[in-house]
Amino acid sequence: MLKILNIVGARPNFMKIAPIVREMRRRENEFQPLIVHTGQHYDAAMSDSFFTDLDIPKPDFYLEVGSASHAVQTARIMTAFEPVVLEQKPDWVLVVGDVNSTIACALVCAKLGIKVAHVEAGLRSRDRSMPEEINRILTDAISDLLLTTSQDADENLKTEGVAAEKIRFVGNVMIDSLFYNLKKAEESKIREDSELNEKDYAVLTLHRPSNVDEREVLAGLLDALSAIGEKLPVIFPVHPRTKARIEEFGFSELIENSNIKLIEPLGYLDFLRLYSGAKLVLTDSGAIQEETTALGIPCLTLRENTQRPITIEMGTNILVGTNPGKIKEAAFEILESDSRKDTKIPPLWDGRAAERICDCLSEA
Ligand code: UD1
Repeated sequence: MLKILNIVGARPNFMKIAPIVREMRRRENEFQPLIVHTGQHYDAAMSDSFFTDLDIPKPDFYLEVGSASHAVQTARIMTAFEPVVLEQKPDWVLVVGDVNSTIACALVCAKLGIKVAHVEAGLRSRDRSMPEEINRILTDAISDLLLTTSQDADENLKTEGVAAEKIRFVGNVMIDSLFYNLKKAEESKIREDSELNEKDYAVLTLHRPSNVDEREVLAGLLDALSAIGEKLPVIFPVHPRTKARIEEFGFSELIENSNIKLIEPLGYLDFLRLYSGAKLVLTDSGAIQEETTALGIPCLTLRENTQRPITIEMGTNILVGTNPGKIKEAAFEILESDSRKDTKIPPLWDGRAAERICDCLSEA
């Protein structure tokens, strides 16, 4: 029986851990899964609703770290997590993605000699100004088992000197959650409540510090988005960080006078229902680039780089950056064309990644 501490901290972790914990609970003779929630995200809309929507069991440990600077937040997670590991003595600690909770918990374990499995290893944007890129590189350097979503990630790891026997290409666990919940999401009334018809609206998400923390950049993005809004409504579930910046920079009125519709952050099922019916998605999130590729929805990524190149090579993703002219041009092209480009779902994005992850842990 393997005792596994599964770490979650921030919103993009929840949809990755849900299918893994479900599979571990199904294989009850092999696994004893426990959940540690660091509390990096703590609002009902950023955290609790995901536990309900995704049927994640209540965390066994809640570390309540909250928001702070990167150094303070990371240190708080480490300090609060260390006694849990010492007491629990797990066989493995499983971390997902690239948030501060991921590196903080991996680092604690590396120093204590506890084995770490990293789900979604090897992704690289090659942009070290992104906090997540630092978290990815460091977590991979100290993990014992590196579980990858695509083969380009395997290549990245080998180039960085990671031994091939530590790397396993298991596929994309976020797509497990997507396929598992597609039917359930049809019960969401988000489209009806917002009076939206399928393919008659765009969905926007924006929260990267590089996009929202600088007035000029955010102004340029909002300029492009309000022009797109003249063609169809742009539904914008707004992240707390972005909401604060919009108010601080005095952009609220500009948005009110446009066809950009600000709404609260949505739960997993409502958001899935919303973007799966969109004509177009605009985002700076990593996860949404993959989810739109899996569903064949056109996606414009408002960043200069992506750690998920396979969504561009095979999927529906187009990297447009933050230049307003380029964003408008790419969006109008999609709005004017009826046909989707010939896109494919990448290998092993098949809804069974969690099974393969559990197999790897069992065999390791
Ligand atoms: C974090 C992750 C990012 C992920 C994103 C998803 C890191 C380095 N970044 O960025 O990879 O894509 O989560 O949301 O870990 N806040 C709230 N309520 C909450 C959580 C945050 O109001 O429940 C506010 C706080 O004011 C906080 C700000 O949002 O200062 C930023 O939160 P934080 O978790 O530090 O980083 P994110 O920008 O959310």
